[in-house]
Amino acid sequence: MRILLAASEVTPFAKTGGLADVAGSLPAALARLGHRPCVFTPYYSRLMRGGARVKETARLIVPTADGGKEAHVLEGSLPGTDVPVYFVARREFFGRDGVYGSGSYSYADNLERYAFFCRAVCVAARELELDPDVFHINDWQTALISAHLRHLYAGDRHLSGAAVVFTVHNLGYQGIFPPWRMPATGLPPERFNWQELEFYGQLNLLKGGLVYSDAINTVSKRYAREIQTLEGGYGLDGVLRGRSERLFGIVNGLDYSVWDPAVDHLLPARYGPGRRAGKARCSRELRERMGLDPGRRPLLGMVSRLAEQKGLDILIGAIPAIMEMPVQLAVLGSGEDHFERALVYLADRYPGRLSVRLGHDEELAHLVEAGSSIYLMPSRYEPCGLNQLISLRYGTIPVVRETGGLADTITDGANGFTFTDYSPDGLVGAVRRAVSAMGRRKSWGRMVDGAMREDWSWDRSAGEYVRLYELARAERGLPPSGRARRGRGRGAKTARTKTGRSPRARKAGAAARPRKKK
Ligand code: ADP
Ligand code: GLC
Repeated sequence: MRILLAASEVTPFAKTGGLADVAGSLPAALARLGHRPCVFTPYYSRLMRGGARVKETARLIVPTADGGKEAHVLEGSLPGTDVPVYFVARREFFGRDGVYGSGSYSYADNLERYAFFCRAVCVAARELELDPDVFHINDWQTALISAHLRHLYAGDRHLSGAAVVFTVHNLGYQGIFPPWRMPATGLPPERFNWQELEFYGQLNLLKGGLVYSDAINTVSKRYAREIQTLEGGYGLDGVLRGRSERLFGIVNGLDYSVWDPAVDHLLPARYGPGRRAGKARCSRELRERMGLDPGRRPLLGMVSRLAEQKGLDILIGAIPAIMEMPVQLAVLGSGEDHFERALVYLADRYPGRLSVRLGHDEELAHLVEAGSSIYLMPSRYEPCGLNQLISLRYGTIPVVRETGGLADTITDGANGFTFTDYSPDGLVGAVRRAVSAMGRRKSWGRMVDGAMREDWSWDRSAGEYVRLYELARAERGLPPSGRARRGRGRGAKTARTKTGRSPRARKAGAAARPRKKK
């Protein structure tokens, strides 16, 4: 099956959270299953990490409200694979110091930026003749692709053979803009109505993804249920209930080539189940790096966006009581100013026991996961959560609030400790149980080894995505992708190159870039 996955951040090129991890690893898992994925993402020219080696593949004119703007399409690949990554480049929109904004504020033109990206994906898919069987779009930034396909490219022979699957990674971010900015979407004004893009008088891009896609999923089964309730639905629960037959939950997988202490070269030492000496070394190094007192006190860790979702208010409320226990706490995070300030203030109060590092630091994130014994994730809500899965692999027992994906992956007393009440007391109680369990060395060792042996790789869930893609095709009245491909002729199939493009498409790509780069 040819799968075009579009996401606003992709590891290792640009990342603010788990969406990037998913977009950078699910396609590789799909390729291992024999499918032909490709990835589209913006080219954040000032942020590109992971040594993106790219070549220009096409120049396109992307229709916009003011007539049209040029996009360069650069082609690279996901590291260690031959999965093509097409970067949409336009400095005006993506050559900035942040992905969505900086600190606590979002860029004022995020609507124009991502509308441009969505339209560019459609134009590029067509001009490069990628002929996807499925568009897999993710979160509000790519939701407009479903609207464009439905309303602007309905009869297009390169695009109309595709179904659309929309994954909601986080319903808390919907891409809401004032109604007068509707023209920036490129859609006709009548699409602004209560059944489509209108939401309490505003323009809501995520809602478009929910109504126009052929199938929808979120990143855990529990979260798929929660968002259909008044409490968890952020105003969209009615829309979601209306589509409940096409709404699924698929828990995220982890990329164990990046997140596995047995092979993790960002760590000072490696380890695994039954051989944990390396973990003790990571703890020593973490204490040193973060200015914590040396010793063997239980070390609690947390790596997080500092956003309300992550339970920072109850963590901050719980810290004085946690500091009464014989423990230390290492926090790495960045985000909302008031949380940053409160954490720094508390770190000053408990020198040597509580350390806070602000900013995004990939290497330190690995060290916190490896060097801590207990991981804290007191989220208010959590669609899936990757950090508790990473923690399991690193033998760092998670203490989590029982919500969303945390509830689906962590079982109290088996591979972690859970609490339900969203309060500092709830968190403190669970931390106390974890710390006292750590004192029972033999059973703790068994729990840690058991956690490290659990399998949360994509092997568990990539197949579920394939079934979802087929279901979306059926929903759209399209034949199963295998048959569709045969229908297009064996020749077309075998003539495709490793990058999934036919020689003809290559020529089209070439024809689309008549001008030399200046
Ligand atoms: P979310 O996507 O809601 O932020 P997830 O648990 O799904 O939460 O994924 C978070 C990802 O982002 C993890 O890979 C985590 O290690 C990473 N991360 C979060 N904050 C930081 C940070 N300050 N520095 C480095 N990595 C971070
Ligand atoms: C979101 C969610 C997180 C999830 C990630 C990847 O950012 O907050 O729970 O793991 O997306 O799906």
